[in-house]
Amino acid sequence: MTDLTQPPPHLPFEAIARERLPALLRAMPKAELHLHIEGSLEPELIFRLAQRNGVALPYPNVEALRAAYAFTDLQSFLDIYYAGASVLRHESDFFDMAWAYFERAAADGVVHAELFFDPQTHTARGVPMRDVVVGLSHACARAHAEFGISASLILCFLRHLSEEEALATLEEALPYREHFIGVGLDSSERGHPPEKFARVFARARELGLHLVAHAGEEGPPAYIESALDVLQVERIDHGVRCTDSPALMARLARLRMPLTVCPLSNVKLCVFPTLSAHNLPQLLEAGICATVNSDDPAYFGGYVGDNYVQTFAALPQLGARQAWQLAANSIEASFARPADKLRWRQALDDCFARAVPSQPGA
Ligand code: HPA
Ligand code: ZN
Repeated sequence: MTDLTQPPPHLPFEAIARERLPALLRAMPKAELHLHIEGSLEPELIFRLAQRNGVALPYPNVEALRAAYAFTDLQSFLDIYYAGASVLRHESDFFDMAWAYFERAAADGVVHAELFFDPQTHTARGVPMRDVVVGLSHACARAHAEFGISASLILCFLRHLSEEEALATLEEALPYREHFIGVGLDSSERGHPPEKFARVFARARELGLHLVAHAGEEGPPAYIESALDVLQVERIDHGVRCTDSPALMARLARLRMPLTVCPLSNVKLCVFPTLSAHNLPQLLEAGICATVNSDDPAYFGGYVGDNYVQTFAALPQLGARQAWQLAANSIEASFARPADKLRWRQALDDCFARAVPSQPGA
């Protein structure tokens, strides 16, 4: 039985030259586990959908919109992100948005993607739940058929709204239960601790849904602890502030609790001043099951491949071994079927074996 946490025993990672890393980082099979599909709306598509749907935007053109993407914290981003999502009105808009993401993901070696979506952002504007879920789900099915990407959906509750609203949203989504695999918690973190959503997560657990939550992006380690203890999540989204608590770091490592880390997002939202100050090497060194993801790639300057390449370029502690570990972690941490995980792990090991230069004379 392959141990998904251990590298192949005889692979000489140190023989892989640093110059080869960017191509390897893009090509290696990986899972993306922290991607808000509304955050993949590129400015060009926002303008195209605005025109198609007759929605007025408060920016004259694509350049002016892009120029507004200068964020000081999570809230300053969320204000623009919700405004961008207002152009999504019809099932075909949700399909087109997700399809554009899958084209990028396929080019980045993504073999499995679990997409977050925020139904409350759309139902509040009168968009039927059905159109949101079915449009996204059709794109997932087509990604599998055309690119071989296995893709599923995770319904996120907006934590700045009430738990009653989250409970009503979950009930409203139940007719489409077969189209999503889990629930998550996103939006403004500070002042909205995980325990605010204890009942809705208990209900989702009863329904057999997977459970994840954003915690420890801007919020304190205590929010990561209550996501584990009260919500009983299976992964922590972000979680980077765990390094403020050595005891929590040890707990995360012992549990092999995955963290879905998003380095470019963290810099754009001023969680870290630069990529070279990011704590990803520290998380890996502590044995935590960290993964690399893009969060909101249209807003933060890059898709998952860019996140890997730029982060490795900024941090000399990260080399081929860590590249392998991060991709293996992403496969291990996914909610995919065990047989698929084994297949991707084999493909990952093969990809690294091919990257090792052959011995002269061998
Ligand atoms: N954090 C919280 N909520 C979000 C994010 C994020 O990075 N992106 C979209 N919704
Ligand atoms: Zn996020």
